[in-house]
Amino acid sequence: TKPAPVIAVDGPAAAGKGTLAKRLAAALGLPHLDTGLLYRAVGRLMIDAGLDPASTSGESIARTLSPDDLKRQDLRTPDVDAAASLVARDKAVRQALVDMQRLFAREQGAVLDGRDIGTVIFPDADVKLFITATPYTRAQRRYTQNGGSESAPDREERIRAVEQALIERDHADSTRASAPLRMADDATKIETDTLSADEVLSESLRIVRAVMSSKTESSCAAN
Ligand code: CDP
Ligand code: CDP
Repeated sequence: TKPAPVIAVDGPAAAGKGTLAKRLAAALGLPHLDTGLLYRAVGRLMIDAGLDPASTSGESIARTLSPDDLKRQDLRTPDVDAAASLVARDKAVRQALVDMQRLFAREQGAVLDGRDIGTVIFPDADVKLFITATPYTRAQRRYTQNGGSESAPDREERIRAVEQALIERDHADSTRASAPLRMADDATKIETDTLSADEVLSESLRIVRAVMSSKTESSCAAN
């Protein structure tokens, strides 16, 4: 039987990881998991329960997370952005979510996007992509994605506010002790400032195919 391929897509906030991972999965016929939703859902449920993720562990909530929790429509608000990043510092929460991420890819393989997929969850992933762009580019993308108007008189000011929040979250995510955001040594970095989502997809497919065909060749040579 053909082994199930695992593709890791990591990078900072609003770089286009989710957009790429979803399209890559569709192109390759693989399941897709946006792992940020796991931390977001725990953050959301803590807020709903009146629990402060800065001072309380979300471990029990993480252990009982259901697929429906990930389908909620209110997981991308600024309060959940901040709560998710606090939740994600908690080692017990991360540990509670490891198995479900690994199980997700077990049968058919998967494309997973997040912060620690190539470093911690799947250190042996077949392909590792690190998607990035400057904070200002990422802030523009998140502003537009959240329905911000291109002609608003305070557009620039609002983008700067989004940029500040992204920089703070990236800093927290990169400096935490447990599974910090970091590019795996064997990942391929794609700087996307001047690339459209279509261009990032075709570049990624090129990388995936190149890696996969070199793996097939070396396993054929070994046999
Ligand atoms: O979409 P965006 O990049 O803004 O965020 P996300 O991918 O949904 O992740 C939300 C938060 O969850 C991040 O700021 C991280 O703190 C955390 N996260 C993580 O620690 N590890 C992952 N694999 C995915 C997300
Ligand atoms: O998952 P992550 O937070 O990294 O980013 P996302 O939720 O996929 O959001 C990226 C936004 O930027 C989406 O609205 C995309 O349409 C847009 N975009 C992109 O993903 N890639 C580009 N190269 C350019 C724009």
